[in-house]
Amino acid sequence: MEALICRKLGDPTEPMSDSSAIFVSISHPPPLIRSPTDIRIRVIAASLNYANYLQILGKYQEKHPLPFIPGSDFSGVVESVGIGVRKFKIGDRVCASADFGAYAEMVVMDEKQLFRVPDGCDMVAAGGLPVAFGTSHVALVHRAQLKPGQVLLVLGAAGGVGISAVQIGKVCGAIVIAAARGIEKVNVLKSLGADHVVNLSEEGLSESVKEYLKSRGLKGVDVLYDPVGGKLMKESMKLLNWGAKILVIGFASGDIPVIPANIALVKNWTIHGLYWGSYWKHCPSVLKDSLNELLSWLQKGLISVNVSHRYSLSQANLAFNAIKERMAIGKVMLVLSGTPQSQQAKL
Ligand SMILES: NC(=O)c1ccc[n+]([C@@H]2O[C@H](COP(=O)([O-])OP(=O)(O)OC[C@H]3O[C@@H](n4cnc5c(N)ncnc54)[C@H](OP(=O)(O)O)[C@@H]3O)[C@@H](O)[C@H]2O)c1
Repeated sequence: MEALICRKLGDPTEPMSDSSAIFVSISHPPPLIRSPTDIRIRVIAASLNYANYLQILGKYQEKHPLPFIPGSDFSGVVESVGIGVRKFKIGDRVCASADFGAYAEMVVMDEKQLFRVPDGCDMVAAGGLPVAFGTSHVALVHRAQLKPGQVLLVLGAAGGVGISAVQIGKVCGAIVIAAARGIEKVNVLKSLGADHVVNLSEEGLSESVKEYLKSRGLKGVDVLYDPVGGKLMKESMKLLNWGAKILVIGFASGDIPVIPANIALVKNWTIHGLYWGSYWKHCPSVLKDSLNELLSWLQKGLISVNVSHRYSLSQANLAFNAIKERMAIGKVMLVLSGTPQSQQAKL
């Protein structure tokens, strides 16, 4: 089968060659069904997250022995099933999040890790949902318990997790303030229902947010969703209400911020560190309920997965470049070329 291989740690945006960090193998052995409840899936679309980029660079918290096939969340069609599989049959449309291995024509996973993609849902969208929307849903709904009328500030709002936080915030009935760079991102965020969008290429975060809050008679921000860190997080702290919740999601800026404990004490802030992937090990029922709810929201049209860039496996370096250069508005996806015609029609 065709698969993207990471043979050494390095920059995945470099053109693929005999010495590049990543390359496409056209004759990689397909993964085998090893346990009775294993299912082999033919991948339709696999998502690129910032974490996948960091993993190949060797800068992610979890490391895999080399060589490995990168890729986490994906969608696809059940191709074969183990003898003990009860929930799925050949031809079912599914999505999931693997530890690694999704940038390939075939993936094998246990049936309990798979989610059925509801009828009518676009398969490329479904492949981009688990990590980004899953993270924001667990953060905002399960951890921060975001309430209607509360003010949510989303940093990095046009990125993969950010754009999902904006939409989930609106589903929860919050007043959503989004921060992103550039008019194109601003327009998409407005079209998704953000109440106020700060264009960081043109205005400062705190001035713009303060002016908006004042115009609406609001005191401050109740929930801060932060996948960026650095200076933006520092500036955001000045906008937080008494009793605010801070969701520490990631550090796309490369700068890990310091949240002073004395200010957290005086202002009664709650700081939530959130690592979505670790819920699989420690509290899988939360993730399962969360993803099932998100897929039902996708089917009802309450949320949508904005896919700004689609590439083939052999263009993976360009896909990683879209992430590196902050071009993504929502998701960057790898759409697999080997998808049979009959399944292409259902995309
Ligand atoms: N905790 C978890 O479980 C979890 C799950 C998923 C992701 N994450 C983390 O969340 C962060 C974002 O992930 P993602 O997949 O949403 O990434 P993404 O799609 O690349 O979005 C990142 C956003 O951050 C903003 N940004 C600000 N400064 C940046 C910089 N110096 N370099 C790059 N981007 C910068 C960019 O927006 P502008 O250009 O508009 O400023 C960009 O849209 C990553 O750190 C990732 O590891 C954590």
